[in-house]
Amino acid sequence: MAKSTGILLFLVFFVSFHVCLGATDPQDVAALRSLMTQWQNTPPTWGKSDDPCGTPWEGVMCIKSRVVTLSLSAMDIQGTLSGDITLLSQLQSLDLSYNSGLGGPLTKNIGNLKELMTLILAGCKFTGNIPEELGSLSKLSFLALNSNQFSGTIPASFGNLSEVYWLDLADNQLTGELPISSSISPGLDLLVHTKHFHFNKNKLSGILPERLFSSQMQLIHILFDGNNFTGDIPSTIGLVQTLEALRLDKNDFSGTVPSSIGNLTKLNELNLANNKLTGPMPNLTGMNSLNYVDLSNNSFDPTEAPLWFSTIVTLTSLAASHGGLTGQVPQKLFSFPQIQQVILDHNEFNGTLDMGSTISPQLKTVDFENNNISLFTPTANYNGTLMLHGNEVCDTVTLLKNSIYCNEEQKALTPYSTSLASCSSNSCPDGLSLRPLSCNCACPFTGVMTFRAPFFSDVTNRTLFQNLEAKLWQNLSLSPGSTFLQDPFFDRDSYLQVQVKLFPATGTYFNRSEVLRIGFQLSNQKFKPPDIFGPYAFIGSPYPFSDNLSGGSSLKKSAVAGIAVGCVVLVLALIGMGVYALRQKRRAERATELSKPFASWTSGKGTDGIPQLKGARWFTFDELTQSTNNFAEMNEIGAGGYGKVYKGILPNGQIVAIKRAQAGSLQGAAEFKTEIELLSRVHHKNLVGLVGFCFEQGEQMLVYEFIPNGTLRENLSERSSKQLDWMRRLKIALDSARGLAYLHELADPPIIHRDIKSDNILLDEKLNAKVADFGLSKLVSDAEKGHVSTQVKGTLGYLDPEYYMTQQLTEKSDVYSFGVVMLELIAGRPPLHKGKYIVREVRLALNMRSEDQYCGLRDMVDPVIQSSENLIAFKGFVELALRCVEETAVRRPSMNQVVKEIELMLQSDGFNTEPESEVSSATDFWRAAGIDGTPHSHLYNDQPLPTKEVNSNAFEYSGAYSYSTKIEPK
Ligand SMILES: *[C@@H]1O[C@H](CO)[C@@H](O)[C@H](O)[C@H]1NC(C)=O
Ligand SMILES: *[C@@H]1O[C@H](CO)[C@@H](O)[C@H](O)[C@H]1NC(C)=O
Ligand SMILES: *[C@@H]1O[C@H](CO)[C@@H](O)[C@H](O)[C@H]1NC(C)=O
Repeated sequence: MAKSTGILLFLVFFVSFHVCLGATDPQDVAALRSLMTQWQNTPPTWGKSDDPCGTPWEGVMCIKSRVVTLSLSAMDIQGTLSGDITLLSQLQSLDLSYNSGLGGPLTKNIGNLKELMTLILAGCKFTGNIPEELGSLSKLSFLALNSNQFSGTIPASFGNLSEVYWLDLADNQLTGELPISSSISPGLDLLVHTKHFHFNKNKLSGILPERLFSSQMQLIHILFDGNNFTGDIPSTIGLVQTLEALRLDKNDFSGTVPSSIGNLTKLNELNLANNKLTGPMPNLTGMNSLNYVDLSNNSFDPTEAPLWFSTIVTLTSLAASHGGLTGQVPQKLFSFPQIQQVILDHNEFNGTLDMGSTISPQLKTVDFENNNISLFTPTANYNGTLMLHGNEVCDTVTLLKNSIYCNEEQKALTPYSTSLASCSSNSCPDGLSLRPLSCNCACPFTGVMTFRAPFFSDVTNRTLFQNLEAKLWQNLSLSPGSTFLQDPFFDRDSYLQVQVKLFPATGTYFNRSEVLRIGFQLSNQKFKPPDIFGPYAFIGSPYPFSDNLSGGSSLKKSAVAGIAVGCVVLVLALIGMGVYALRQKRRAERATELSKPFASWTSGKGTDGIPQLKGARWFTFDELTQSTNNFAEMNEIGAGGYGKVYKGILPNGQIVAIKRAQAGSLQGAAEFKTEIELLSRVHHKNLVGLVGFCFEQGEQMLVYEFIPNGTLRENLSERSSKQLDWMRRLKIALDSARGLAYLHELADPPIIHRDIKSDNILLDEKLNAKVADFGLSKLVSDAEKGHVSTQVKGTLGYLDPEYYMTQQLTEKSDVYSFGVVMLELIAGRPPLHKGKYIVREVRLALNMRSEDQYCGLRDMVDPVIQSSENLIAFKGFVELALRCVEETAVRRPSMNQVVKEIELMLQSDGFNTEPESEVSSATDFWRAAGIDGTPHSHLYNDQPLPTKEVNSNAFEYSGAYSYSTKIEPK
């Protein structure tokens, strides 16, 4: 940071020096004038003055009267690049990207621009060989020649580009072998500082010599896909341990995949598809960062599904079409928390396809076409695509035959697009488009973003693409809602292509400097998409400016005024920067303090410096970063005032929920320590357990067990597929009451939750309820036993009115909130709904009629439970709820009493309330659903199948039932 500030200061100093004093170097003026005569569509400011640095020509930037940057991205420049460019001998950065009318051969003279650090010609139409003189640009660090029509070989001289970190030659017509160094010639193996070899989509051929890779290399992306490479994959690839994306697909590689590939433990994407690889399917065990794996269309030895299909829990996409796989489909695969796509068509899997009961909610596509599957176990809570065409099961099971699963054509998933739903009209004049949010018509800067190795496959995922949208407008300094994404899809080369439209913050058109700025940020990779999108290339379309020559004579005057103002502004900027630097330094110091928690914990009372934990462990920041894929947006599962909650996977496979406090809700070290000590002592089966915590680098995180079935609120909402029947609701009430009673009466010191609500009651895989989020609870210390005076905290609708008035917090405030949850269980809807408050509504309903009070409630009861003929203990439950929500705390029962009464309700009706008892009544279900089977013959073989619609209902029910019926009839 300090260094870059320094450079900036330096730059500003020289720019200001120049602007205030002088004129452009005549040689540079001559060069620019020459380019201007050869090019069409140079910006209108070009040629308006003799001083391209002083009265600036757009796209030209200078230091000490010399042109150092020429940046003309997306200007629709037409013509060729002549040798005169080399007159700009101080040029450091040349960006001519996205000018599809600019091309011809690339001049050899470019090798004379010895100061050049950045050269970007992406998305033009350059032809002919890449001049080997480029290899003499020893300062070059960023080279992007992608998406042109270059032919010939990659010059061996590139091996001299020792500073280059970005080397993009993709999407050209390059041929021949990759140059390797020898005693007389350099080669690509010398590029040990390069991070990106993007050579995809060319016609490169020959073998990859073992010498190409070494352990000194720091490559993170090797994209060699879509070429004509042959021979073995060199085993030395395993030495490049920094690799995150390796694409060798669509080549002619043969032989066995080297086992050293297993050493690439940072790899997120591995694509070896469409080659001629033989031998055993590679063993990817231990590659625990892998997200996207494609091994399709090779000639691997027939084998059962390898073990790693069940162990790499980070997978988002697994493909092995034509993989020679036999035996049973491993069920574990479908439960990986991030899995989106499983493509295993054209294999020899046989027996039963049973995807299991814990299917990842992310899963969208499962393709088992053309295997030998003979039985299929229908699956609850999966509503993605499942392709079974070409399996025995589609012939033998009559009713499955006509189902969607056996249909060759399945409906494609609708990809994400930015919503324009809020805009009433959707038409704009020609050339303009509707801007999201503000709904006005404006002229966007458009282009295609190609993600060359994304770590995911789901094009319907709103969160991911909305994150991309937000990143775009934020990083490109546009305004909210100024990004429009359309039709993401995976093309034939397995690239994710997205149409991007970027809108001006105000007005209808961008001006040139804005387009130049945005174009350069995209062409130079300054814009970074969320990590999960992997490496990208953007190819923009030339922007249709509104002006096409206007302004003119007034320019000089305003320019002079501009310079005067400019000098003042620069001085102010310098002062501002000094202040900024100081502040940064202070911030850094504070961060260091925060990153040494023990220091503050041990400085106090000698012995008990380190927190006394029971069963909870200490995580490092790095561990949690890894387990959440760098806190990827994708893993976000919740957010609140304190910060965000992420889903993470620990190295032992345990799934956890990580609550990360954000700046502003951080506690002092002492409070945080007290809190984790306390939480680590709270162990109850109806409370979400603390797994550990992290207190490092200014972060405070609590790590909880992950509860898979979501919140009670979600499960009660109309959209939920799991319908909670009345018995299950009673059981949920009992579970959460037990958890709460423990906090009040058995925890030491007692804990008042302060935020009981259906959003804070989670359901586990068996729909047992667990109370969550007592992490920020108020402790009831002995000194103030009875009540705690504190700032009112809670959620509207659940908040105890007495607590609100008096600010005196007691356990009875939790009882009130719990009573509201009980009413919610009856009504199914949130406590505040369409302006009506549930407590008041229930009271009103009960007062209406005297003969049978409970008739008045009928309209309020959730239709889901209304239909069940036997609402046992319904009256008692309503009465209890109403006592919990009594106005005055003294009239409310304690949580212990609540527990006892609900237990009685359940027992009085002949049910055992012991949570351990579990008997599946799947038989009943199958009968109820009209299917005469036993619970274990959930195999559809030879069973009459309902029609498609009924079928899908049945699946939902089966899920609810096998989960929900845990209460044993006596
Ligand atoms: C690439 O390989 C394919 C198949 O081996 C061949 O047909 C094609 O001509 C090759 N292309 C080049 C440019 O060598
Ligand atoms: C993986 O790396 C280790 C050390 O870097 C090395 O000893 C081992 O041989 C490598 N494994 C393979 C299969 O190459
Ligand atoms: C795969 O690799 C792991 C670790 O490298 C090893 O333990 C396991 O035995 C291998 N499996 C097979 C089938 O070779």
